[in-house]
Amino acid sequence: MKKLFILMIVGAIAMFSACNSEKSDRIIDVVPEESFDLVIVKTDEPDATIIIEPTNEPTIEPTSAPEKTPEPTPTPKPTPEKTPEPTPTPEPTPTPKKESSKNYLILVNWDNPLKENYVPSDLVKAKSIIGDVVAYRNDSAKLDRRTAEAALAMFKAAKKDGIKNLFISSAYRSIDAQRDIEKRRREKDPTYFDDPYNHPVIAMPHNMSEHSTGLAIDILLTTMRNDDQAFADTEQGKWLAKNAHKYGFILRYPKDKEHITGVIFEPWHFRYVGVDAATEIYERKICLEEYFR
Ligand code: DAL
Ligand code: ZN
Repeated sequence: MKKLFILMIVGAIAMFSACNSEKSDRIIDVVPEESFDLVIVKTDEPDATIIIEPTNEPTIEPTSAPEKTPEPTPTPKPTPEKTPEPTPTPEPTPTPKKESSKNYLILVNWDNPLKENYVPSDLVKAKSIIGDVVAYRNDSAKLDRRTAEAALAMFKAAKKDGIKNLFISSAYRSIDAQRDIEKRRREKDPTYFDDPYNHPVIAMPHNMSEHSTGLAIDILLTTMRNDDQAFADTEQGKWLAKNAHKYGFILRYPKDKEHITGVIFEPWHFRYVGVDAATEIYERKICLEEYFR
């Protein structure tokens, strides 16, 4: 019906054009029934092409607001796990007090154990440096090199002062050697190491002995070869107690410091710390623990 109506209109126009010999370039806008918003009719040709362009193209109803493509959630970067700091085994406490002997100022005691695998870096055969100025329980005994050199100077000075029969009873002991000593003590008395500040010991547990640093020497007599506090009353023991600091040694476990060191009075145990520290410790009548305070 609508098409018929349009064709009729077109036909009328065509007839009107035919009657009118002039060419027409007009474009007629026709507003037809509601089905067509616009009809364009080209009439400039005799066989006029009629183009009907419906503009009521079906509207595509938006079904819904286009879904926003979700932004890809960035994969959270894994927080790098903080590598736990390895709990360090306490190193012997260094002290910055005196530059000249800093490498030898280490504290090894109940609170400052050595690492289980600690081995001193510069061990030498003690006799290769000290020679025959003294006697040895073990000719292969080792010491830290500088400790051995300082000991040589001390023994030479002692000899010059008429001190004889000095005997190196013990020097470097490995951690394992000290472990054997500890084991034997425990077998005799399982509580031996339990309360050192009230019941001081004569032997430290493994990795707590200065002997494992190569810086300690037990000096007794060829006539008194085993640990004996009576050494303190001998001429040699007195000389060492009075002069050792001049060569960098301290009498490490004094009589009146047992409650601080946790070790009995050991007049035979000398420890190299360097001349400056040894002199200060001697003059102030303190023990190494007190020096570090
Ligand atoms: N005799 C000392 C304390 C030691 O065993 O290291
Ligand atoms: Zn000792």
